[in-house]
Amino acid sequence: MASLPFKDKHKTGFKSAHGGSFLKQWTIFFRQFLKHPGMIGSVIPSSRTLVDAVLEPVDWERTRLFVEYGPGVGTFTRPILERMHPDATLIAIDLNLDFVAWLDAQIDDPRLRVVHGSAIDVRRFIREAGYQQADYVVSGLPFSTLPDGVGGAICAETRAALRPGGEFLIYQYSRYVMRLLTPVFGAISDRLEWRNIPPCRVIRATSDEALAEAA
Ligand SMILES: C[S@@+](CC[C@H](N)C(=O)[O-])C[C@H]1O[C@@H](n2cnc3c(N)ncnc32)[C@H](O)[C@@H]1O
Repeated sequence: MASLPFKDKHKTGFKSAHGGSFLKQWTIFFRQFLKHPGMIGSVIPSSRTLVDAVLEPVDWERTRLFVEYGPGVGTFTRPILERMHPDATLIAIDLNLDFVAWLDAQIDDPRLRVVHGSAIDVRRFIREAGYQQADYVVSGLPFSTLPDGVGGAICAETRAALRPGGEFLIYQYSRYVMRLLTPVFGAISDRLEWRNIPPCRVIRATSDEALAEAA
């Protein structure tokens, strides 16, 4: 498991203890799933084991811009902030205004920019934050239930938004996204994380051959 190098140096302010009770987060998440099943794609938030597995390869010391797609109730947002360098920025993009309002109300951290919109517009959000490219993008988007063409466009935009050697980190319950990643990313790795219910695919995609060489 990755260490938490910056946890003691930078305090993330959760406006309520632990960012709201698990029960409250699960209730809000489940309600949104009932309202927008295709957009949310899952009935429960990701487990802490899955969060640790997805974030394990990140080089936190060198990361200055991290982007998160589909933060929901912040299951990944909080652990990213716990690990992130004091001078780094996290842009969290969600299409669901209720989740955006929830995150804004729950997390008080100057390194976090929560934006309402689609991941398709990632490059515009990066420019508006004063950056050129991201070191990492992590995605919780339900690619198999997104409207036609949206998933492919998001993968292409993400490839353009990443710095050379930057990585697209994805967790998914199906392998559907692989057909969208293959045409745009040079190196892709895929494994199953069994310690999540249900077991979940953990995918890394990068634009150069760094992953292939390391494997
Ligand atoms: C399965 S939930 C993931 C929530 C959380 N990251 C987790 O792991 O528990 C999917 C999230 O993607 C968001 N979403 C769906 N389509 C999107 C899009 N085009 N751009 C940004 N967010 C989107 C939904 O609103 C929802 O918050």
